[in-house]
Amino acid sequence: MEAKIWQLCTYSPAETFELGCWLGKFAPPGSCLLLSGDLGAGKTLFAQGFAYGLEVEEPVTSPTFTVANQYASGRLPFVHMDLYRLQSEEEVWERGLEEYFDGQAVALLEWPEVMRPLLPAERLEISITKHYADEPEGGEWRSWQLTPIGEQPWLKEALKHCENLSS
Ligand SMILES: Nc1ncnc2c1ncn2[C@@H]1O[C@H](COP(=O)(O)OP(=O)(O)OP(=O)(O)O)[C@@H](O)[C@H]1O
Ligand SMILES: [Mg+2]
Repeated sequence: MEAKIWQLCTYSPAETFELGCWLGKFAPPGSCLLLSGDLGAGKTLFAQGFAYGLEVEEPVTSPTFTVANQYASGRLPFVHMDLYRLQSEEEVWERGLEEYFDGQAVALLEWPEVMRPLLPAERLEISITKHYADEPEGGEWRSWQLTPIGEQPWLKEALKHCENLSS
């Protein structure tokens, strides 16, 4: 069966946070989300909303320098990775990053490509595109494409709450 692709738009940082939040509320144990998009697309802001939805209490900061940040205070363990600075799969192995996929923790990866061969079979691939209005004062927005790999019924439930964001 072909995977359904979901498309949405967010027109402000607050909407990006809200989208993350709804997914965080519904994500089951062991889920893995991959965020792809240019520098400044909104990956970290989405992750902060996602953590809020998971009821993580600590402040969530960008893992650009730490590579992986773990949070234990939410309804499930949460690991937030940013693989931007890693060059090869070997560096991923050296850090033992695949061990975070333990079937319980929820993982969210920015710049996941370098880890592709080690990812769980079931995952949610999210691709973000930046858009700019033609008029100088028109502002910017983001379009989102969500592709579940494997059965992920929770996603449909989460997105029912995001109908205001559907394009
Ligand atoms: N829908 C939106 N409309 C306008 N601005 C947005 C939207 N969503 C997010 N932003 C803004 O985009 C900026 C970059 O966000 P963020 O740091 O999350 O990007 P990132 O993808 O993690 O970047 P990097 O690749 O550098 O880690 C922030 O200022 C954020 O508020
Ligand atoms: Mg980021």
